[in-house]
Amino acid sequence: MRSIPVRAQAWLGRFRLPRPGAEPGYGSWWNAIASTRAGAYALTYVVDDEDDYRSRGWDGDENSFGARQFIEMAGLGLRSRVLEIGCGLARIGREMAPHVGEWHGADISRNMLALARERTNGLGNVALHELPNVGLAQFADASFDFVYSTIVFMHLDKEDVFQYLLEAWRVLRPDGLAYFDTWNLLHPDTYRQWRNTQRGNVGGSKVRGRIQFATPQELRTYLEDVGFDVLRLDDDRLVRALCRKAPVRPYEPNDGRPPFGYIDEPRNGGIVKERLHVAGWALDDVTRIEVKVDGRLVLGDARLGCPRPDVAEAFPRYRHGIPCGFALDAAPAGVAAGRHTLQVVATDTSGAMTDLAGNHRSFVFAG
Ligand SMILES: C[S@@+](CC[C@H](N)C(=O)[O-])C[C@H]1O[C@@H](n2cnc3c(N)ncnc32)[C@H](O)[C@@H]1O
Repeated sequence: MRSIPVRAQAWLGRFRLPRPGAEPGYGSWWNAIASTRAGAYALTYVVDDEDDYRSRGWDGDENSFGARQFIEMAGLGLRSRVLEIGCGLARIGREMAPHVGEWHGADISRNMLALARERTNGLGNVALHELPNVGLAQFADASFDFVYSTIVFMHLDKEDVFQYLLEAWRVLRPDGLAYFDTWNLLHPDTYRQWRNTQRGNVGGSKVRGRIQFATPQELRTYLEDVGFDVLRLDDDRLVRALCRKAPVRPYEPNDGRPPFGYIDEPRNGGIVKERLHVAGWALDDVTRIEVKVDGRLVLGDARLGCPRPDVAEAFPRYRHGIPCGFALDAAPAGVAAGRHTLQVVATDTSGAMTDLAGNHRSFVFAG
């Protein structure tokens, strides 16, 4: 499979740090990788031919954009201040620097940065920064026009991805643009990759810099939670997101998004005797919740407005969230004994609908 290069996989396998018992940080794992030039080049996705590396730094390759694409997509110019998180050998920065005001490369690996320094020698507007941990504490709030990270998030645990998103948001100027990518768990090719590597990363045998995966929905959720407007979300082997730092703002009614929520009862696969009790919560301008069985038998509309202070606390942007609970208690007339699927369709003021039960909610009617 071409999407995750075989060469990088081979290097990942070779660096089974640490010895049993000790959990290495990202820094020590990536320093070990970049302790040789060949290792550093291999894990930044190219052959160790400098001409090839430069051309990929400008034009990108099938797995990563290059400087040219970033300059175009973010409208960068000679006044732009740019930060790359996980810059590696400055593959992109070396080519981007002549076209922007300042290019800052931040990385957790000192050895990667040493090679980046060599490669960017003579470029006066390049600054390289060693990150002591997962965060961007050395950078001031609202100090960059564009922040990006490519071929990095797939090597991080999700908590750390989220931390970098929070930090990227903080260091971006209002309305500044950001770009992030990671491997798509839901693409069949990359899902197969995950299945192939899963067994080698169980329990204590996890490789620190292993390749990880996320769904497009997951990345979008993180981005929106942090405060980005997602302008573009490519949903291929790579999930690629271009987004804009949105001002901190309370919930806006009629934002065009469908409602969302959760069904507390019945539990998935639960046994229902005589009466079906459906209860949960839904947010975002909900005007109606219709409950159906097996996609066709309408049981009726749920009662709205049940108090849910716990949900309101978890989603503070939704200022009027407390009465977001709903409930329906019905005798499932016409429902035969056995397993059935449930649909709980929430509609908002603009007519947008979502089935809160997804594809997965079923119950067993005992009759
Ligand atoms: C596959 S390389 C990609 C380098 C560069 N972005 C590129 O496209 O050429 C991944 C880089 O992320 C860095 N990295 C790994 N974990 C990191 C972390 N937690 N924080 C910052 N950088 C990290 C590694 O040291 C390495 O340089």
